[in-house]
Amino acid sequence: MSSKNFLYIGIGSQNINLKPKDFERTWAQDLMLKINDDWNIWACDPRYYSDKMLKAIENSNWIDHFLPLDICDEWSNVPLFDAWNCTSVLEHVKKEKANNFIVGLRSKVSYDSMGYIHIDLSDHNLTHESSIYYEKKDKYYRSYLNKITKDEWLNIIDKHFVYSRCKSTLDRVSLYDVKVK
Ligand SMILES: C[S@@+](CC[C@H](N)C(=O)[O-])C[C@H]1O[C@@H](n2cnc3c(N)ncnc32)[C@H](O)[C@@H]1O
Repeated sequence: MSSKNFLYIGIGSQNINLKPKDFERTWAQDLMLKINDDWNIWACDPRYYSDKMLKAIENSNWIDHFLPLDICDEWSNVPLFDAWNCTSVLEHVKKEKANNFIVGLRSKVSYDSMGYIHIDLSDHNLTHESSIYYEKKDKYYRSYLNKITKDEWLNIIDKHFVYSRCKSTLDRVSLYDVKVK
């Protein structure tokens, strides 16, 4: 059994099980490499999940350990993560929590860790459930986009992390090989 730990931040409702179409996406490709290498796969999300969804998470084809927690919370009995992925989460974090989120993330990963950040800066289709923000354990979802710009995010992230590549278009930004500063 590998001693390496991977954290996927913000499962949402669409990714409880990996589906063939997911393998076109960076996060799923990266995850498969880790699974094949026998990493422990963790996922966190503070949103409300029905009992049915929690059961699905328990039986997920990729999640070994689920943390129903916010990245900003103090976590106990959880290892520091060697690799992590934060896809399409940051744009939904409450604006005033943006800095805390990055500080919280920094506190959960090891000094040698490597991560991936993807932020969708588009207007989204906010009638779609995957575009939601959930208050912690809030049963009712609400549409929320913080509208933080790419440059504002880079300023916040640069205080704690460095990255090898930033790929961006008008409506999305991806940071590769994100490491602790
Ligand atoms: C739009 S979904 C993205 C889901 C998935 N990562 C994807 O790419 O499809 C955003 C998810 O991030 C979760 N999230 C929001 N704030 C979070 C936080 N502070 N810590 C962990 N997860 C959070 C939300 O509850 C939601 O499930």
